[in-house]
Amino acid sequence: MSAKIVVTQPVHAEIVERLRAAGHEVVDVGSPQGLSASELRTLTAGADALLSQLTDRLTAEVFEETSLKIVATIATGYDNIDVKAASAAGVVVTRTPGVLTDATADLAMTLMLAVARHLPSSDASVRASGSTGPFKLLYEPMGIDISGATIGIVGLGRIGEAVARRSHFGFGMRVLYTARSTHSVGFPAERRSLEELLAEADVVSLHAPLNDETRHMINVDTLSLMKPEAILINTGRGGLIKEVDLAAALQAGVIAGAGLDVFENEPDVHPDLLASGDRVVLTPHVGSATAKTRLAMASLAADNILAVLAGDPPLSPVSV
Ligand code: GLV
Repeated sequence: MSAKIVVTQPVHAEIVERLRAAGHEVVDVGSPQGLSASELRTLTAGADALLSQLTDRLTAEVFEETSLKIVATIATGYDNIDVKAASAAGVVVTRTPGVLTDATADLAMTLMLAVARHLPSSDASVRASGSTGPFKLLYEPMGIDISGATIGIVGLGRIGEAVARRSHFGFGMRVLYTARSTHSVGFPAERRSLEELLAEADVVSLHAPLNDETRHMINVDTLSLMKPEAILINTGRGGLIKEVDLAAALQAGVIAGAGLDVFENEPDVHPDLLASGDRVVLTPHVGSATAKTRLAMASLAADNILAVLAGDPPLSPVSV
């Protein structure tokens, strides 16, 4: 039976084609930015499925007397969706875990190395002068060693574990992690409380989901537990960090640096972070942005929609 599918923001043409080829009507909205709850409510009136993205605001309002059967978000995080309201309205919510694990873990490592070795300012100085300048043994700013350092993984889910694996096997790092329970990952990794981990780690990488429990877990108090030479990496969700506290900590030398791909109030970045110079490396929420990964994410989301519309179980549902 033909169903109506609303696609909020630009996706690969072949994905839209696949949904149409399955006999469904596709309303390809092509919004250049995330849609508000009231826009989504209007657009989904009479629709069966929504192919959405992490900037669409899927609050309870969207699910009031909705005809939707499924919301498939092209993301692994789903803090933009009121999953309880969706479930109460009988709407299945799916996400795209797994397919973006490697790309996101690779970006976490990239940020770690870029901060430790002052990559943006080194690149900028070569470009600005058109020269490396004379070789200096006593170069400033000196980098920080990543090989052999201790990494603290906050949240040992799929991506956290992939970062731990890269850190152990690629860089000989000692791995600490926080998790609800002890994991066996096939290489040495020690479980710690958040406080212990922050005090021991040279690099802290955040991979916890954003929820009421984890919002602002990195704040003035927890930052003060970290070592002055430590680096903080966030490829999870911006709201895990209270940005104003991080900027103050960076400027006061409480920690050495930060690599951030996600921000508390995206698309805005706190001006004090922008003023933190070489201590921070910033990327625009591109953890999963490789061609192969983004296509795999969109494809998994489409598979979820086609499954649910066919009366089959979703492939990667969010559990309530
Ligand atoms: C990206 O941030 C995602 O949740 O997939």
